[in-house]
Amino acid sequence: MSLLDKIDKNRLPAHVAIIMDGNGRWAKARGLGRGEGHREGVNAIRRVVEAASKASVQYLTLYAFSTENWNRPTEEVKGLMDLMVYAISRETPDLKKNGVRIRSIGDMDRLPAYARTALGECIRETAEGTGLTLVLALSYSSKWELSTAARNMAADVVKGVLEEEDIDEETFAGYLTTRDIPDPDLLIRTGGEQRISNFLLWQCAYAEFYFTGTFWPDFGDDALYEAIIEYQGRERRYGKTSDQIER
Ligand code: IPE
Ligand code: IPE
Ligand code: MG
Repeated sequence: MSLLDKIDKNRLPAHVAIIMDGNGRWAKARGLGRGEGHREGVNAIRRVVEAASKASVQYLTLYAFSTENWNRPTEEVKGLMDLMVYAISRETPDLKKNGVRIRSIGDMDRLPAYARTALGECIRETAEGTGLTLVLALSYSSKWELSTAARNMAADVVKGVLEEEDIDEETFAGYLTTRDIPDPDLLIRTGGEQRISNFLLWQCAYAEFYFTGTFWPDFGDDALYEAIIEYQGRERRYGKTSDQIER
C-alpha cells in the first residue's frame, strides 16, 4: 500500500503551506554553491506540486522568498530572481495542462520588473485552472502584510468607505493578501528549524505545525504524504474539549 493510499480522502487538509528551508545547507553538505541548492529546490517544488495535486489538496502555499531574504547577498538575490523567472517560464505549459492555477502573495512592487512580468504572465495563463491553486509567497512577510492591511483600513475609514466599528476579524481578513484563500490547515517547515520566520502569522492561528529535518531539495511526494498522514492523526479542538469534538 503506497503512502498516498493511506491518506484518508475525507479528512484532507484543504490548504497546505510550506516553509521550504534548507537549500543552502543541502548544497554545503555536498560541497556545492548555494545556487545549486536553490536549483535542486525547484525540482522539489515540481515533485511536491504534482504530489499535492494527486492527493486532491486544494491550496498549496509555498514560501519562496521572504521580505527578510532581500537582505541576502546581492548575487544570491539575483540568482533566486533569475531562477524563479526561468522555472516559471519552463513550467507554465505543464501547470496549465494539469489545471494548476498560480497566484502570488507578497510585495510584488519590490520584484525586479522582468520577474514581475514573468509571474504576471504565468498567473494570467493559468487563471482558468480548476485543480490545485498554487500560491507563491514572494517578497512576503506577515508583518508587511498586516501593517499594509492596517494602513489600507485606516485610509478607507478616512475616505468614509469603512466604519471603524465594522472592523472585526472578517473585515480584517478581507484586507489581507490571502483574502479569498482559506487558512492553512497544515504548515510544514523543512530544514530542521522550528520557527515561523514571519510567515502567515494571522492565517496560521489554528494551523497544525509539522517540522522535519529533511532539507527542501530532498523533500518529495512521500515526505508530503507522511506529513498529511501525521496531520490526520491530530485532533483539532479549536479551544473545545476532546469530548465536544465529533469525529
Ligand atoms: C530556503 O533555503 C530558500 C530560501 C530562503 C530562498 P535557504 O537558502 O534558507 O537554505 P539554508 O537555510 O541556508 O540551508
Ligand atoms: C524562510 O527561510 C523563508 C523562506 C523559506 C522563503 P529563511 O532561511 O529565510 O529563514 P530564517 O532566516 O532561517 O528564519
Ligand atoms: Mg534558511
